[in-house]
Amino acid sequence: MSKESIKKDIETRIKDLRKQIDHHNYRYYVLDSPEISDFAYDQLMRELLRLEAEYPELVTLDSPSQRVGAAPVSSFSPMVHRVPLLSIDNAMDTDELSAFHQRVVKLTGSENIAYCCEPKFDGLAVELVYEKGVFTRGGTRGDGYTGEDVSGNLKTIKSIPLRLITRKPPDLLEVRGEVVLFKSAFADLNLERSESREPLFANPRNAAAGSLRQLDPRITASRALVFFSYGIVDAVAVGLGSQYATLERLSEFGFKVNPDVRLCHGIGEVIDFCLYMQEKRESLPYEIDGVVIKVNDIDTQRMLGIKARSPRWSVAYKFPPTQETTTLKRIEVQVGRTGVLTPVAVLDPVRVGGVTVSRATLHNADEIRRKDVREGDTVIVQRAGDVIPEIVAPVVSRRTGDEREFVMPDTCPVCGSGVVRDSIGGSGSEGVMYRCVNMACPAVLKEQIYHFASKDALDIDGLGRKIIRQLVDKGMVCDVSDIYTLTRDHLMQLEGFAELSTANLLNSIEQSRQATLRRFLYGLGIPHVGQVAARDLADHFGSLDKVMEADKEELQAIRGIGKEMAQAISGFFSNERNREIIRKLKYRGLEILDQQPSEPESASLAGKKFCFTGTLESMTRSKAKQEVEGRGGQVVSSVSSQLDFLVAGAEPGSKLDKATSLGIRVLDEDEFRKLIREG
Ligand code: IVH
Repeated sequence: MSKESIKKDIETRIKDLRKQIDHHNYRYYVLDSPEISDFAYDQLMRELLRLEAEYPELVTLDSPSQRVGAAPVSSFSPMVHRVPLLSIDNAMDTDELSAFHQRVVKLTGSENIAYCCEPKFDGLAVELVYEKGVFTRGGTRGDGYTGEDVSGNLKTIKSIPLRLITRKPPDLLEVRGEVVLFKSAFADLNLERSESREPLFANPRNAAAGSLRQLDPRITASRALVFFSYGIVDAVAVGLGSQYATLERLSEFGFKVNPDVRLCHGIGEVIDFCLYMQEKRESLPYEIDGVVIKVNDIDTQRMLGIKARSPRWSVAYKFPPTQETTTLKRIEVQVGRTGVLTPVAVLDPVRVGGVTVSRATLHNADEIRRKDVREGDTVIVQRAGDVIPEIVAPVVSRRTGDEREFVMPDTCPVCGSGVVRDSIGGSGSEGVMYRCVNMACPAVLKEQIYHFASKDALDIDGLGRKIIRQLVDKGMVCDVSDIYTLTRDHLMQLEGFAELSTANLLNSIEQSRQATLRRFLYGLGIPHVGQVAARDLADHFGSLDKVMEADKEELQAIRGIGKEMAQAISGFFSNERNREIIRKLKYRGLEILDQQPSEPESASLAGKKFCFTGTLESMTRSKAKQEVEGRGGQVVSSVSSQLDFLVAGAEPGSKLDKATSLGIRVLDEDEFRKLIREG
């Protein structure tokens, strides 16, 4: 074969590889529905890179190999928008939505208006330019007229097609949309940054903006950004008559379009959709802050026109914010059950996401330092879903100079005893924790009693915080064993106590005198020992005496009990004061029921690696994991050639394809259960 014809063949192969890679990119990043394994994809990419390295003259701009190719820049050049990016008026409630509709009705003379309603992404607006179907450049919104050309960075975003999927591309296509970072990717990114002690991003939008404005595209490439398209500049020029048709066309071209778009007829349907999205908001994998409502018909849009800087045919319904700013008045220190001192921000009460927030935990001194939060600061407070309120960051620009840096006290704020510093996370990698060492500290004691009496421990109904506070402050209870010395005379002295409440509490105390070993171990409040570890200890040893005698090595040999926990347990039981309390509890009539130590488990699955995908109907994932581990097997989170079994439940994910392509044995739920039963 001649050199020429070899080269022709290579060129054909390269084109074919690009087409395949583009297609699989689209399946994976746009449709979330891959057709091949990561491994098979990597092979295609590797072959393309090899051929392009050998024949650099065959490299084209739209080759998938060029996504991360661009060299770092020292600054971005400006990108002038041919048609300015407008802003949208806001509607803060449903009345304002109705007012918008009334204006549209008045101006068009028609009651019968169709609206295209789309979730409003909380990301970064960008414009992408395609010439003859090939991505040529893209930039940020900037001031609406001129933004920054961040083409090299945009190319790294895999959901942005480098070439449109169409036989007849328009000469020019300007696509608008939003670059977002999914909530999970945001959490991962911040975790990584906190580990490397870099400043954290306040929210996914800031993280997306920071990632897109990186001078080195390799950093952008590492950030899992996603592009959603929502508009075409001059859609009429490409033969489109409505916003809804525009979104459909964008989807055909290979862009990601929000699946939650709805065409609504009349304002009633619009309002319903807005409220529906408001409900759904928390469960979406990315952040939205409202709904954009657009008159669907483009002729009607044109007729309505633009005023100042926003169109008359569109409005953004804004959800009530889940972030607010307020003043951090001071930082208080709370003392917990294990004596740990926790700083808590006392805030000027502020409504966030529908509830009033006046306190927020600051976790520990390191967190305060990392976020650089000071007393007197204006701070951003956030509440997401049911999550407890947290301080996101101080608003540094609002500082007056009167703010006070916080220092952890070196004595306990409750009992005045000394405070020790413990490192968190073994090596101290997660920072330091301050702890009051006075075992009789009233704050610690109150929390210990509260925990001892809680539902999952000794379950003493009626022994709440208010009563515990009085019992401790009056000196009636100095450790948990004193609960069993309480009499009617004691209780009748407490505020708010009468015959009936006294009788009820005495009765609950009486009922708690027989406790299972699990509940008792949990109720002791040994640091790091939660319900699961307490159950494992009880199952393994069967009696309290045996647990108390166990040394660190024996404890650590139990599955699920690590070095730190083993240390905490043996430390707890070798402490004379704790032993004394246990003796007193027994003496005062608490009976701890032994339990049969569990059979040593079979090791039928020793050395076998399992991975799960999809939903199991008959058991939870954690139960399934337990079953495998109980038989000596191991559960891993991703599919590799090392895997022995993939267990596929209902609606399996891409792991199934990967496992199949690697020839790994796939079990359905029944087969898995059979394996467990027989093992
Ligand atoms: S349409 C005139 N649709 O909101 C209408 N904007 O536009 C032009 N935004 O920062 C914009 N999601 O990036 C439109 N589905 C959506 C949107 C959306 C988010 C952002 C946009 C800009 C702001 C105002």
